[in-house]
Order: sequence, then structure tokens, then C-alpha cells
Amino acid sequence: MKHIRKAVIPAAGMGTRFLPATKAIPKEMLPIVNKPSIQLIIEEAAASGIEEVILITGRGKNEIEDHFDVHPQLEESLRRSGKEALLREVVTPSQLVTLSTVRQQRPLGLGHAILCARHLIGNEPFAVFLPDDLVDAQKPCAAQLIDVFQRTGKSVIALMDVPREETSQYGIAAGKFSPEDPRCLNIETLIEKPASRDAPSTMGVVGRYILDPRIFEYLTRTNPGRGDEIQLTDALAAMAEADGLVGYLFEGERFDAGDVAGYLLANLNWARKVPRLWRTVQQYVRSHQTDAG
Ligand code: UTP
Repeated sequence: MKHIRKAVIPAAGMGTRFLPATKAIPKEMLPIVNKPSIQLIIEEAAASGIEEVILITGRGKNEIEDHFDVHPQLEESLRRSGKEALLREVVTPSQLVTLSTVRQQRPLGLGHAILCARHLIGNEPFAVFLPDDLVDAQKPCAAQLIDVFQRTGKSVIALMDVPREETSQYGIAAGKFSPEDPRCLNIETLIEKPASRDAPSTMGVVGRYILDPRIFEYLTRTNPGRGDEIQLTDALAAMAEADGLVGYLFEGERFDAGDVAGYLLANLNWARKVPRLWRTVQQYVRSHQTDAG
């Protein structure tokens, strides 16, 4: 049974859907309640057994590294003033995983971003987390996929059933569901963002992957595709054909925090876990229910 120790988190994108907020702030640092969204991702990684994270970054993303570093001055100040709970919150991010960063010098696509981590991954299976996709689940989404990887020995990607009119926002997978596990799809076809009329199914790819290192070979051979970018989906489609690829309908709720509406819903979802905050939200909604809009 191969242990999954390493994960790649590609975060070199420009975050155009969130402008102007992301003009000077990495979108991964926008908070969900009081934590940057990237912290929720790295917490999921750590809870899934990941020890090393390779963050793919670009210009203007240094604040992410600072967040996961120690901050001796702030820590000392909180310690001196006896703010122990806050001190724990400040120290925690630096203790979750070992973090390395690699700069993707040009934004040549998600597939290219993952290829940038090749020298740090080596020849072992690894996880990929797309930081826009936040998943609230009892068992972390990545841990669910790791179980499937260990059972099948094949690369695994997270799937969710999406409305047909939204297929153009996702990679879409089609194939046959396994008779042993109705959540496992043996993928035969994978298409990046098809129009609803061309979509072979409504099984949308969500940003969690457990990949065999052979993916790097497929990525090297992948030509720029949709948007003139090296697409991970195209490399995965080649891998599905040659080596097999499993899709897993994970249990949990996913939020697209890279999109303004999805980000607001993610904030509401995580606010629901803090009774004091949730009461404030409920009061606000009740008092505005009759407003136009
Ligand atoms: P997106 O296509 O969502 O791009 O990338 P984006 O820039 O993050 O967001 P929008 O659409 O402009 O608002 C999917 C993931 O791949 C990473 C992004 O950081 C994001 O996590 N990515 C994309 C890279 O790391 N490098 C690239 O060249 C492209």
C-alpha cells in the first residue's frame, strides 16, 4: 500500500474572476470567516496524511508563504499579553506541513504548473489540491480518494454530479460505474469544459486528484489545448486510455471559492459552524427578507 506523502497546490493563476480584490492580494489569502482559504486546503491535506506540500506560485503570491511561516515578533507579543488562544491560531499554520514553493515563471496552464513540481515529487504517487475548491466533508475529500487509490492502484480524481447547463465550467468524465462501488467510475472519456450539448455526462471534475507519477510523462507530451494552455485534463485523458483512471463521487459539499458567489456561500457554510456568528447572519437575513432583489 503506497502512502501519499506529498501534495502539489497550483496557485500561480491570476484570479481574474475576483478582480479588483486580487489586484494586490493572492485570492488564496481571501478569508473564509477568519482563515485564508488556502489554510482550509492545507488543513485538509494534513488531515489526509500529507506531510509535504509544494506550492506553485507566481509574482505577487509571497503572502501565502508568510502565512505558513513563523512570526516570532507577533508570537512573542501574544505570549506576553497572555492571548493563548490567538497564539495557537497564529502558530498552527506553520506546523501543518512542510511547505516548499516553486515559481511558475509563465502561466502556461494547470498542467504546466503541476509539471513544475516534478523534481520535488520524484517517482512517487502524490495528491493535487486546487485551492479554489473547498470541500466540507466528514472524512476529508482527499482522504476518501487516497482510500480508493490504495484499493485500486489507479490514479483517482474527485467527481460531482453537476447541472447539465454548467458542464462548460468543468472537466467532464464519462465511463462505467464499478459494480463493487457505485461511487467509482472507470473513466473512458474526459473532456475539458464541454458545452452542455456536447457533454458525454454530467460528472464534473472537482479539484482533488491522487496521481501516479506517470502523469508527468503524459504532461510532457501534452500540447497546449483549450485557451492555449497545457491542460491537466488532456494529460489525464491520455492516462485514462493507457493506464486507467478512476473517478470518485466523493461525500461532502464543495464550494468554488474562486468565484464571488461560491466564495460568499463558503463563508456562510463555515460561519454556520460558529454559533455566535451564525445567529448574527440569521438575524441579518430575517431583517432583510422583504428587501427587493
Ligand atoms: P483557473 O483557470 O481557475 O485560473 O486555474 P485562476 O487564475 O486561478 O482564476 P480565474 O479564472 O482567472 O479567476 C485553476 C488552478 O490552476 C492554477 C490556478 O492558480 C488555480 O489554482 N494555475 C492555472 C496555475 O497555477 N498556473 C497556470 O498557468 C494556470
